[in-house]
Amino acid sequence: MKVVSVMNYKGGVGKTTTTANLAAELAWRGKDVLIIDLDPQASLTFSFIKPEEWQDDFSDSKTIKNWFDSFSDSSSVDLNDLIFTPNNVSEKLNGKGQLDMIASHLGLINVDLELATELGGATLKQSKRNFLKVHRRLSNGIQQIDSDDYDLILIDCPPNFNIVTKTAIVASDNILIPAKPDYLSTLGIDYLIRSLNQLISDFNEYVKIDAEDSDEKISPEILGVVFTMIQIRSGQPITALRPYINQTKKLGISVFDEYIRENKTIFSDAPQYGVPVVLNNYSAGTYADVVSELEAFVTEFINKSGI
Ligand SMILES: Nc1ncnc2c1ncn2[C@@H]1O[C@H](COP(=O)(O)OP(=O)(O)O)[C@@H](O)[C@H]1O
Ligand SMILES: [Mg+2]
Repeated sequence: MKVVSVMNYKGGVGKTTTTANLAAELAWRGKDVLIIDLDPQASLTFSFIKPEEWQDDFSDSKTIKNWFDSFSDSSSVDLNDLIFTPNNVSEKLNGKGQLDMIASHLGLINVDLELATELGGATLKQSKRNFLKVHRRLSNGIQQIDSDDYDLILIDCPPNFNIVTKTAIVASDNILIPAKPDYLSTLGIDYLIRSLNQLISDFNEYVKIDAEDSDEKISPEILGVVFTMIQIRSGQPITALRPYINQTKKLGISVFDEYIRENKTIFSDAPQYGVPVVLNNYSAGTYADVVSELEAFVTEFINKSGI
């Protein structure tokens, strides 16, 4: 079982759309996938279930917020008990692979504040211990999930580098970075990589307080940047995008050959029906192109991640 975080501290770059389509296509190909929505905006959650259903059946006691809260309010919540199978996509998959999820909650914003209060300590040693304890939380939770249950856990991260996001990184084997090819987004990637490296080196330094060559070190690896919302002219990505793709490669980060093109109509429509674009059958030619490009991206993801 691999754990992959989908992240970029910028919002609106296609993280959620990428997560939903990747998970759905992998399940279509027979994989068992669990997606965890860690973004308080809950876009991934609402791409699979209706807000009314979330309100009635999930909001009180069946979201990732309940699990984080259980550490401070001494309730007992097991991550496994939050897992559910969204209906519409499940019908579409028709028994091929499995797509399960854990829903998010707007109140997850406060969880970051709560976690921050658990950091610090009277001594340096105590601070380091608290840092490890807080940052390992999701990783420990995921260990409760039977590794035979899923081939992959995909975590849709919020657009920030707060503590909840960091718990996802600590839990991950790989990081996938969706990005738009424009000036500000490429600046963002550089910043993201530096923040990631800082977290990894702090964590691995602190781990040494208990054992010199501890096997508790983390080494989440960046799988690559996948460019999203690419504009196409005459069947090709427009040339204005090239410099940004090259600039990212110059940062030493692997860039997916496959990309996700821009198509407002189908990408904004799909979430309300609970089935990601890649699993829909479109008759119009451009839509079919979008689907085959998504499939090609998933193939490249499989090759790069080895799942
Ligand atoms: N390839 C695409 N073409 C057109 N619109 C897209 C595409 N991917 C995502 N969108 C739209 O852009 C908005 C942001 O996408 P989303 O995946 O939610 O980004 P993020 O999770 O990074 O905030 C959404 O309204 C979504 O429908
Ligand atoms: Mg999102």
